[in-house]
Amino acid sequence: MRIVLFGPPGSGKGTQAAVLKDHLGVPHISTGDLLRAAVRAGSPLGLQVKAVMDAGQLVSDDLMLDLLADRFGQPDAAAGFILDGYPRNLVQANALDAMLARIGQPLDGALLLEVPHEQIVDRLAGRAAAEGRKDDDPDTVRARLRVYAEQTAPVADFYRRRGQLTELDGTGTVDDVQGRLRAALAALAPA
Ligand code: AP5
Ligand code: MG
Repeated sequence: MRIVLFGPPGSGKGTQAAVLKDHLGVPHISTGDLLRAAVRAGSPLGLQVKAVMDAGQLVSDDLMLDLLADRFGQPDAAAGFILDGYPRNLVQANALDAMLARIGQPLDGALLLEVPHEQIVDRLAGRAAAEGRKDDDPDTVRARLRVYAEQTAPVADFYRRRGQLTELDGTGTVDDVQGRLRAALAALAPA
């Protein structure tokens, strides 16, 4: 199964994908996690992207496409994937489409987690205190939410127009949201 898990910063993409990957038997591919690993490792990519991430802005489309192509080339991705954090603008949505068309493996669907603004701010403030992720400070969260509204939200319309978008309530407990995701996936999968 090949799905995009979509939603604003703090909507629970990573939390849900971590559970869903075992249910579906496909890897969770988070572009944010891949980038943070590169930063931690001090690789050339990591050195290049650190400042952009710390400012809550988007890393360049070319770098992201290379990173994604590399990850899709790993053996576990042959089974499919849950993509989290990509695509983040229309250029990336088209690039993903082209890449999947080339390998003859179209997306099964895109799932959008909807969470009210105030809850997002609360969740990320909680994580800032607990984990100290650098881009969770309040100013950077505001920048990330702005980038989402301006550049990423149009990607939802891109999938909606093609009848590939399922919008889900992302509030409640982690289990509540997981239940809604699984029901939506069951509706996507051919009987
Ligand atoms: P990325 O890592 O993708 O961050 P993000 O999308 O901003 O979102 P988060 O990871 O913060 O949120 P999430 O939806 O995964 O929620 P989570 O489960 O963590 O990207 C980081 C940066 O990398 C970008 O700003 C950009 O610079 C760069 N980047 C990445 N991809 C890129 C791309 N394609 N192009 C260009 N640049 C790119 O949950 C958040 C918190 O809420 C957690 O503390 C969690 O415990 C809590 N929580 C989750 N679910 C619930 C619940 N149901 N109830 C209460 N709390 C909950
Ligand atoms: Mg995440």
